[in-house]
Amino acid sequence: MPATSRKKISRATVRADFNDLTAVVHYTRAAHTLGLWASERILIDRYFPDKNARLLEAGCGAGRVAVALWELGYRQLHAFDFAEELLAQAQSLVIERNAQITLFHADATRLGLCHVIRDKAFDGVLFMFNGLMQIPLRRNRRRALRQLAAVCRPGATFLFTTHDRNSSPAEQALWRLESRRWAQGRQDPILREYGDRYFEEDGTGRTFMHLPDRAEILADLRATGWAHVHDVLRRAVAPEARAVREFSDECRFWVARKPAQT
Ligand SMILES: C[S@@+](CC[C@H](N)C(=O)[O-])C[C@H]1O[C@@H](n2cnc3c(N)ncnc32)[C@H](O)[C@@H]1O
Repeated sequence: MPATSRKKISRATVRADFNDLTAVVHYTRAAHTLGLWASERILIDRYFPDKNARLLEAGCGAGRVAVALWELGYRQLHAFDFAEELLAQAQSLVIERNAQITLFHADATRLGLCHVIRDKAFDGVLFMFNGLMQIPLRRNRRRALRQLAAVCRPGATFLFTTHDRNSSPAEQALWRLESRRWAQGRQDPILREYGDRYFEEDGTGRTFMHLPDRAEILADLRATGWAHVHDVLRRAVAPEARAVREFSDECRFWVARKPAQT
């Protein structure tokens, strides 16, 4: 099929890719066997010290983080995903581990429509393993950021990760080439914005990912009601086990706070 006849990446593409069997097996295996990364554990301990905090996990997938939070002693947990097949896997894991987590189906860009969390004021939100960056188009990522802020109380903490186009010299070289392609109109036509990637890996399936630079995320937080608190590359937080490095590559952790006056 000629590249020009392929459809642009949309929310439907991403959702179908996460509902695909290969992805479901991949994320379910990680939820059952991998649990939290060392870096995630350190930052969760640091930024969510209260085990009674009302926490919301966005893009929970098959439950890797939500179930680990329960096992760490967090007791007021809500988690959602827009991929039904992954959510079904999270539900079985919750039952198997005897956890009490309110799981629900929702799209992070349309949370306002979601009755399960209406009137809730969460103390914290997590959007782990780059889920926010799997939302096509910056305006939609900003919409998700705004909607997550709207379901939090003032002072709530937000922890999430992204890639970073500048995280290594190799990445920088690759993106210099890609920026030339965009300048000349030779980019893959299914991509929406500079920084997007769409790729397929054995055992993981097809993945859409937007790779930002640091300035982009700082601007998005400012524009959507979040105050930046901290950001750090994963390798500076903790060395990770080989299984974690095989599951996930380098990323940047972000911590933001909903200011008291909004
Ligand atoms: C890389 S996976 C991570 C899954 C899980 N948090 C983990 O760490 O194993 C990203 C998750 O974000 C979810 N996701 C992406 N866009 C979403 C959206 N707009 N609304 C809700 N979930 C979304 C995907 O369905 C997927 O489960």
